[in-house]
Amino acid sequence: MKRIGILTSGGDSPGMNPFIRAAVRRGLGYGMEVVGIIAGYQGLCDSNVREMTLRSVGGILDRAGTILETARSDEFMTREGHRKALRTLNEQGIEGLVVLGGDGSMRGAMALHESGIRVVGAPGTIDNDLYGTEITIGVDTALNTVIDCIDMIRATASSHRRAFLIEVMGHHCGYLALMAGIAAGAEMICIPEKPFELEDVAAVLDHAYIRGKAHCIVVVAEGAQYNVQTIEKYLQERQQELGFDVRSSILGYIQRGGKPTAYERILATRLGAAAVDCLASGTHGVMVGVSGHQVITTPLAEVISRRQELDLSLHDLARTLEDPQTR
Ligand code: F6P
Repeated sequence: MKRIGILTSGGDSPGMNPFIRAAVRRGLGYGMEVVGIIAGYQGLCDSNVREMTLRSVGGILDRAGTILETARSDEFMTREGHRKALRTLNEQGIEGLVVLGGDGSMRGAMALHESGIRVVGAPGTIDNDLYGTEITIGVDTALNTVIDCIDMIRATASSHRRAFLIEVMGHHCGYLALMAGIAAGAEMICIPEKPFELEDVAAVLDHAYIRGKAHCIVVVAEGAQYNVQTIEKYLQERQQELGFDVRSSILGYIQRGGKPTAYERILATRLGAAAVDCLASGTHGVMVGVSGHQVITTPLAEVISRRQELDLSLHDLARTLEDPQTR
């Protein structure tokens, strides 16, 4: 294979740049020409590509975001957009493509694979919701960002004897919220995978108050059954009875902008190189991922048709450690 392309797609995630660096340098190491496609699948539709060199990926290991930019392309999803993308790949002489992104990006990769393009996917999302890998590129950094934020919020919560509802990203997946809640010692963790009622949140506040706690932290995944506004309104109406004044914080996009952690840089570097190794060895139509300490590959068809299950025993663990009497 003489010429390959790399694109990043969907929501950006910390670690995309170390991934690009590794993939570009691995490709150059094989003697390939490497092009970067700007702004994901939209760049393929628009034929927006740039030659990549050793130097073009210098100094980016520690930078969040993606130097190739990213997008959620509606056009690529259309028949005409797909045809334009195929034309760009032909005109540019791109013989193999590496796609880094989340589930929507893997669906796009599958569509190209079905059109005969040699494509290798890699998991890049803070949601950690992809089948075929234990961990995605971005989630470790996002988790550390969320924990830092919760630690800071707890400080002000304790000073004011307040309860805080903290909304964490994750789309329909509760992974980030669950892990953040465990690592930051939240009193309650609300995730889509575990139904709850508003009274359950009130009961946690009530119990924290009775135990003499100066704060009560409730982490709420953005995809949870009730959003923070609804929970906050409900709790505020019962403030006198519960004893805590309630506030909420939506952490939002700061969760995507953190400086990649050491773990992230290493994961991204391994997977960036592995994706290009696949193309070089004639393996395609797969996504690279990790299982244990090993890099693995999973067919894209399986990645997009199966769900990454959340280990709900961790939710039980968090609950029992927070309040051992609920065991
Ligand atoms: O998939 C990553 C993610 O950050 C989700 O957690 C969130 O629901 C979504 O992207 C936000 O998307 P956008 O950047 O399009 O607002």
